[in-house]
Amino acid sequence: MIENYTFLTKTVQEVLKSQELSENKFLCGYAIKANQNYDLVVNAAKHTSFLEVSSKNDLDIIEQVKTELGSKMIICHGFKPASTSYFKKIVAMHKKGFTIIPVINSVTELYDFGSLDLKMSIGVRISAKVSFGGSKLPDRFGLTLHEIQQHFAYLTQHKTLSLTMLHMHVANTISDIPQRIQDFDDLFTVYEMMIKAEMKINYICTGGGLPERSYTPDYFYTEYYQKLIFRINQLTTAEYFPILLSESGRFLATETQFVVLKVIAEKNSNDDFSWYVLNGSAINLIPETVLDGNKHFPILPVNFIDRPSKTVICSGATCDQADFFHTQKINLPQIDKNDSLFVTIPGTGAYQESLLGSSRNTPGHCLIEATNELTITASGICSRTTKNDFLQTLGYTKQKSFFKWLFSR
Ligand SMILES: Cc1ncc(COP(=O)(O)O)c(C=O)c1O
Repeated sequence: MIENYTFLTKTVQEVLKSQELSENKFLCGYAIKANQNYDLVVNAAKHTSFLEVSSKNDLDIIEQVKTELGSKMIICHGFKPASTSYFKKIVAMHKKGFTIIPVINSVTELYDFGSLDLKMSIGVRISAKVSFGGSKLPDRFGLTLHEIQQHFAYLTQHKTLSLTMLHMHVANTISDIPQRIQDFDDLFTVYEMMIKAEMKINYICTGGGLPERSYTPDYFYTEYYQKLIFRINQLTTAEYFPILLSESGRFLATETQFVVLKVIAEKNSNDDFSWYVLNGSAINLIPETVLDGNKHFPILPVNFIDRPSKTVICSGATCDQADFFHTQKINLPQIDKNDSLFVTIPGTGAYQESLLGSSRNTPGHCLIEATNELTITASGICSRTTKNDFLQTLGYTKQKSFFKWLFSR
């Protein structure tokens, strides 16, 4: 994580200098939604420039790492109208002295924060167009250009709210650089409106979306930031150039985890390959592949690497026909009946666990055996699996049976 953070910071600083801008005009923070495990968040709080959160629960986590975080900024996304516990938590943490910036997602939120009579820095999210099935859909997050024009005076001349940040996050990982820069057009339009109104905007935040470093050449990041910084530089002068923020989730967290599985059965198919059945489930362990058919994870052998290979497809151990780890045939070492072949799936550190949600408290799909979780640090390996009683979670045992309590009322 920290290696990627340092790489990106240095890369962007070089780009800034090459365009005669101060190297302090870039900050990279960690979007904790990618992986909320303690070791990552505490590291990010210590070593990256700020944290990005999206819920009240995320903020509960931030309070746990407040010593490491110090006065660094916390940027709050997600919906947070006044009725939510998230809104109340933001206000409470602001009052406790945290540097917390809510990024306004709707006109309601703007007026909710505005009616507090509390001096606060805010950001505003600019609605992006979302590509969906070949067409562009309006984004449900943020304010449209029209809404910004309608509420311009409230946004820019409020007696307690101070607008310091413009934000846009475009879903999907950046692959086409010119297209992504163009996606930010509405953000740049709003920035120009602010300059014309003589408003000083401290931060332009372009959200996440940076691709995993393992699969991306270093020059990609240089080229992306060269074009992005050049575009923003056209709108302003070096003196007023805002601080550019990257809220990176995937880019920082992907390489922090990997999965190791064992082949528990080999099954010959009538086709030209064998099934290797693994002691886990693709649905439980790499759920992103189920949500996004374009997402693929490599599978590599851990042992028997000198053996002749055979063509296989790896499946999960659940009864779900769709539970396989890849659709393209791959080559793995041949095995005999009593051999224990282990395979590894690298780069599962971002989103896989958080998308899994409640499955982590139970063994997951088909209730197949849960995976053991180990934390590897410079000082050793420790287990962090807490064996949850799935019978209890599902309401079979008397204590804490939420369903029995509900239906007995
Ligand atoms: C507002 C915002 N910022 C940052 C991120 C992190 O994106 P990524 O993991 O692609 O870097 C997300 C992801 O959904 C997001 O919604």
